[in-house]
Amino acid sequence: MKPVSMTAFYCCAIRAWDASLPAPVLGDGYAERFLTDEARRVMEPYRAERYPNAANVVRPRIIEESLADDLRRSPRRLIVLVGAGFDSRAFRLPAGRFVEVDEAAVLAHKESRLPAASAPNPLTRVPIDFATESLEEKLAPWRGEADVTIVVEGVTMYLTQAQVAGLLATLTAVFPTHALLCDLVTARFMARYGASIEARLRQLGAHFGELVDRPEVPFLEAGYRPVGRWSLMRGVRTYRAAPMPWIMLATVLRPGVTGSQVWRFEFDRAIR
Ligand SMILES: C[S@@+](CC[C@H](N)C(=O)[O-])C[C@H]1O[C@@H](n2cnc3c(N)ncnc32)[C@H](O)[C@@H]1O
Repeated sequence: MKPVSMTAFYCCAIRAWDASLPAPVLGDGYAERFLTDEARRVMEPYRAERYPNAANVVRPRIIEESLADDLRRSPRRLIVLVGAGFDSRAFRLPAGRFVEVDEAAVLAHKESRLPAASAPNPLTRVPIDFATESLEEKLAPWRGEADVTIVVEGVTMYLTQAQVAGLLATLTAVFPTHALLCDLVTARFMARYGASIEARLRQLGAHFGELVDRPEVPFLEAGYRPVGRWSLMRGVRTYRAAPMPWIMLATVLRPGVTGSQVWRFEFDRAIR
């Protein structure tokens, strides 16, 4: 598995720990089954990362609430997960058609633990080598679909700005109208709060791509319209993912409130 793909185990372990709590934030009961003994051993020291871990279960919860709204309006909506990792939404959400795109090694392991054919919703897994293969070609079977939400979660921080722009060029070329849910973190946020988790991820071999202070810029340049934004720090308090007195949010953490957010964008080629 490529080093950046190892970060999928990081997200997965946190979701498994969350699911074992009496009052989980996300309650992803599938996460545990993807963990190998080796992944459990490697991830154990990450338990110390209380706030990054809390933000990491709040992020999928926020994304899931937005997806659930989409699916209430449109139960056949296509949900495309780019860099899906060990996401199990095709099994947990009540509707939707799902496409999971990720490195072959991630999806092979996933398939061995939770076969796509056993999902209650239609699910297609699409293996790709992001470095050498064309995402546009991989998404060709769904080209032109217009009732679509794309999820790019826990991915952009590992990419360069050029790679983000390339990804958005592909998504906007394939899908004429769609919503995009994506978490974006600023360079300032990581410099202030992220040193410890960054060092741990580096030990896994995963490096941040190119953090900037306005990570939304390539999205705006690609023609996306921001329609929603949720602060992960605020979410940690809202969902009680970790102790977060309001006074902390109003003082020491204040500069970070908008530094790490889930964004919802909409794209419509007709009104670019
Ligand atoms: C931190 S994990 C997040 C996984 C999942 N979205 C989640 O939130 O649990 C990052 C994922 O991005 C995938 N990835 C690697 N390179 C990528 C690229 N260029 N574009 C999209 N995803 C990529 C990795 O294989 C890995 O599964």
